[in-house]
Amino acid sequence: MSSTILLITASARGEGSISRKMAEHFQQAWRSKAPTTTVITRDIGSHPPPFISEAWIGAAFTPAEQRDQHQRKLLASSDEMIDEVDRADLIVIASPMYNYGMPAALKAWFDQVIRVNKTFSFDLGRGDWPLEPIFRGKRLVLLSSKGEFGFQPGGSRHHMNHLDTHIATVAHYLGVNDKHFVSIEYQEFGDERHERSKQSAHQQIDDLVQSLTKLSRDQATYESAPA
Ligand SMILES: Cc1cc2nc3c(=O)[nH]c(=O)nc-3n(C[C@H](O)[C@H](O)[C@H](O)COP(=O)(O)O)c2cc1C
Repeated sequence: MSSTILLITASARGEGSISRKMAEHFQQAWRSKAPTTTVITRDIGSHPPPFISEAWIGAAFTPAEQRDQHQRKLLASSDEMIDEVDRADLIVIASPMYNYGMPAALKAWFDQVIRVNKTFSFDLGRGDWPLEPIFRGKRLVLLSSKGEFGFQPGGSRHHMNHLDTHIATVAHYLGVNDKHFVSIEYQEFGDERHERSKQSAHQQIDDLVQSLTKLSRDQATYESAPA
């Protein structure tokens, strides 16, 4: 089985980051089941992508063959990051919750990679829903760490969770049609609830890796089956 994972880490913290530890755990668990997987890593927490600008938007909306050298340069890192998305079957995002949403670095990444005629097409002929993703069949795993708790559906802070919900919405435009969410909560309390949340999340990661690697294996077998 050969597959490609794009692993994005978004915490501004290094050593102490819980979401980075989740990403490491995920990667180790995956490698133990599927050692031939290619993993592309992009650490946007340490190296945030640039914010888009008016010139960037102008370049993105200029047809590729009409772009000047300056415009091509403006879009170069966007091209590179979109290429990483294109190559990935599975996108794993490890992120903290900041101010009830995603870190600015992660939003900057989404702004760079969700681009007209690269990851989505726009056609008013489609009526009220003119945008359609260009990529298809990708999976997303969001591994997140939160200081408070109750952000899951039915929880006391679900209405304040603009991290999982926002990412679930925009991932569609990267061709994602299968999404999985694992969270560690209670970081700010540092009590036994936090410990239980960590243990439960790591178990969920193991179970998820088990089922996703099995799915990839089954898919690979199906794709290589003789007609
Ligand atoms: C700038 C900042 C904003 C935060 N905002 C929230 C928040 O809105 N809700 C929450 O539950 N936790 C919040 N936290 C706590 C983080 O989500 C928590 O510390 C998490 O573990 C950070 O991820 P990391 O350990 O991977 O760095 C915030 C932390 C920081 C540094």
